[in-house]
Amino acid sequence: MAELGHEVLGVEIDDAKRAALSAGRAPFHEPGLDALLATHVGTGRLRFTDSFAEAGDFGDLHFLCVGTPQSAVGLGADLTAVVDAVESLAAQLTRPTLLVGKSTVPVGTAARLAERMAELAPVGAAAELAWNPEFLREGFGVEDTLHPDRIVMGVASERSEQVLRTFYADAIAGGTPVVVTDFATAELAKVAANAFLATKISFINAIAEVCEAAGADVVDLADAMGHDRRIGRAFLNAGVGFGGGCLPKDIRAFLHRAGELGVDDAMSFLKQVDDINQRRRAQLVQTATELLDGNLVGKRVCVWGAAFKPGSDDVRDSPALWIAGQLQLGGAKVIVYDPQAAHTARQVYPTLEYAGSSIEAARGADLILHLTEWQEFRELDPAEVGAAVARRVLLDGRNVLDAPAWRAAGWTLRGIGRRPA
Ligand SMILES: NC(=O)c1ccc[n+]([C@@H]2O[C@H](COP(=O)([O-])OP(=O)(O)OC[C@H]3O[C@@H](n4cnc5c(N)ncnc54)[C@H](O)[C@@H]3O)[C@@H](O)[C@H]2O)c1
Repeated sequence: MAELGHEVLGVEIDDAKRAALSAGRAPFHEPGLDALLATHVGTGRLRFTDSFAEAGDFGDLHFLCVGTPQSAVGLGADLTAVVDAVESLAAQLTRPTLLVGKSTVPVGTAARLAERMAELAPVGAAAELAWNPEFLREGFGVEDTLHPDRIVMGVASERSEQVLRTFYADAIAGGTPVVVTDFATAELAKVAANAFLATKISFINAIAEVCEAAGADVVDLADAMGHDRRIGRAFLNAGVGFGGGCLPKDIRAFLHRAGELGVDDAMSFLKQVDDINQRRRAQLVQTATELLDGNLVGKRVCVWGAAFKPGSDDVRDSPALWIAGQLQLGGAKVIVYDPQAAHTARQVYPTLEYAGSSIEAARGADLILHLTEWQEFRELDPAEVGAAVARRVLLDGRNVLDAPAWRAAGWTLRGIGRRPA
């Protein structure tokens, strides 16, 4: 927002994160973000605080971007942070203000928050709410924020729409499409998009299981399907499945909310989508065990990747780490290497061993698992890695390594849903 020319005050209640941000450093890995933070903290156009009083005094327009994780007691979303932030801010609103919700929330949340705000704000109904879901992709966060592919505005008044159109004027002038709608549709536009993407991934992973049983090749098949413009090739990559802080919890929260609304039958396929995704992980552990002659005890397993996706150090619900953890539980010695995520992975899985490079992790390994598709893994020299390992056996959980090149260097390489070599 500072890069777009706005004066920005960020409210962050976590002391360590706020200290990093105030020093111009992102508290997580996101390409290009540190440079922008350093620039705009330097110019003073961007500052951070933990004070909602200061925020209320500062802003005409507020964005709500706090987390909505899965509840500890069920499939639904935990809205504690959202409600806390709205209540803390509302109490400070003494002049007309627009609060714009970006967090991913169950449908119906915005309407309840709008009422709560009007109750608590000293300025009353002049404290308005809009819902403007966030579609950025981790790893492309800067690019997606500066050049969004669509802007969805859930609004209750023309004034709110005008404030948002002014705020997004550059993107709109640059051709970004705008959908103006009500709160409920805006909230659903986000969860429905994530449900669709998750379904696409689980669809191709289910097809990969059929390919394995039938001796077909899921990559050729996805290429063939992807040429159909109605389908498209994106998100048709069979592999260890989806993870991260969004898709898994968003489909579960959607399923839960559908139940509350009495339409659980309509959304019951999302349970299958989730099950297929979890099964992929378990099957990968099984395939790894088979490649180790059915016995994990005492085996040395190298895992390339810990982040849930490349370009990020986010390990929330990461398939790579879950698989690494299961192999360790089964008795293997597991050595993980990730270009960015070792520090976040260590917090969640402190008992795994972490290496400083791909080759170091591979040294003496009986099996390598490729689980997060960082570019640097594609560029490895199969002969050089081959000289480091005990056995040249590689399981490509992302189907992106150059299989003929690895096989030519003497490797046994298995993919997901791939034609047997
Ligand atoms: N991560 C993504 O790629 C992405 C993309 C689109 C939408 N979303 C949605 O955006 C929301 C945030 O996601 P995230 O991944 O950034 O979550 P996160 O948990 O990583 O970050 C949330 C931040 O909010 C802070 N916070 C919590 N309560 C607060 C409060 N009362 N006041 C001020 N700060 C507070 C936390 O300390 C934390 O730094 C979620 O609803 C998520 O579903 C995320």
